[in-house]
Amino acid sequence: MTELNKIALKILSNGKGILAADESNGTMTKRLDAVKIVSNSENRLRFRETLFTSDAMKDCIGGVILFDETINQTSSVNKTIPEIILSSGAVPGIKVDTGAKPLASSSDETVTEGLDGLRQRLTNYYELGARFTKWRGVYTITKEYPSKLSIHSNAHALARYSALAQECGMVPIVEPEILMNGDHSADDCYNKTCEVIKKCFDELILHKIDLTGIILKPNMILAGSESKSKISSQEVSIKTVKCLKESVPTEVPGIAFLSGGQSEIESTENLNLININNNTNFIMTYSYGRALQQSALKFWSKDIRNIKGTQNVFNHRANMCSLAAQGKWSKELENK
Ligand code: 13P
Repeated sequence: MTELNKIALKILSNGKGILAADESNGTMTKRLDAVKIVSNSENRLRFRETLFTSDAMKDCIGGVILFDETINQTSSVNKTIPEIILSSGAVPGIKVDTGAKPLASSSDETVTEGLDGLRQRLTNYYELGARFTKWRGVYTITKEYPSKLSIHSNAHALARYSALAQECGMVPIVEPEILMNGDHSADDCYNKTCEVIKKCFDELILHKIDLTGIILKPNMILAGSESKSKISSQEVSIKTVKCLKESVPTEVPGIAFLSGGQSEIESTENLNLININNNTNFIMTYSYGRALQQSALKFWSKDIRNIKGTQNVFNHRANMCSLAAQGKWSKELENK
């Protein structure tokens, strides 16, 4: 077992998943604006430290993805944020892409940037305690998109990033996200997701990536948010497992889904059924941002000094996700 494979398994095993707390300052400001909290570095840290010191960290969270600002911050008890995360037994991770930018020659689409100077930035993050990294490619479905160009360019960037992360001793999360936006059908999502993921693995293999030392972070197979023909959770789970079985090499240890704008309950129910229907060897778990934080953020915004109360809300959500990662979640447990 390689060191990278060990890290990946530590993050994903035993019903644990990933807390994606790597919102850029721009995105975090949108989230805080929505609950009428001023977005400054102090408040961003306050909320995140509340989550990172909750009980759920021990049993439910195997890794936390941080943003550059947070990995450099010091907590209220004078420890660094990576130290706080490590003390709960979880692995600190870091988002290293610099965002999705218009793709030249197909400017309605994007290519994710951040390769320039990446080797040095990775070395710095390793020294700060990060042992895994994240890079997100973004695709939209329309009649003409995603184009071959965007599928190719994003896969190429994901592979170059992964090679650098592994060279530096860190597990790359490979995140090709097909957005839910649009009126496409679940079958369109299925076909495009399979195509995008296969292309990513072609490039990862070309770049000699150790596939036992990566984590794939895909979207689930869903109908577009504007689609009139939504599918049931059972259908979501069957299509999602089938797509991954067909597109992901068996060496990959695990898959951690993004929530992508699904509600907390929807993303939990879908993950639960994915695990019940999982006929692969892949661990299937969560790497949720909004679907782990939404209700905790709402609660916290009512009284930002109520740390215990906020942690209780977060503990419940993380526990439900952890049960879903083991196929043991139910609506009764959710409402208890
Ligand atoms: P959501 O779960 O809110 O989609 O965020 C996950 C993530 O990390 C997106 O890159």
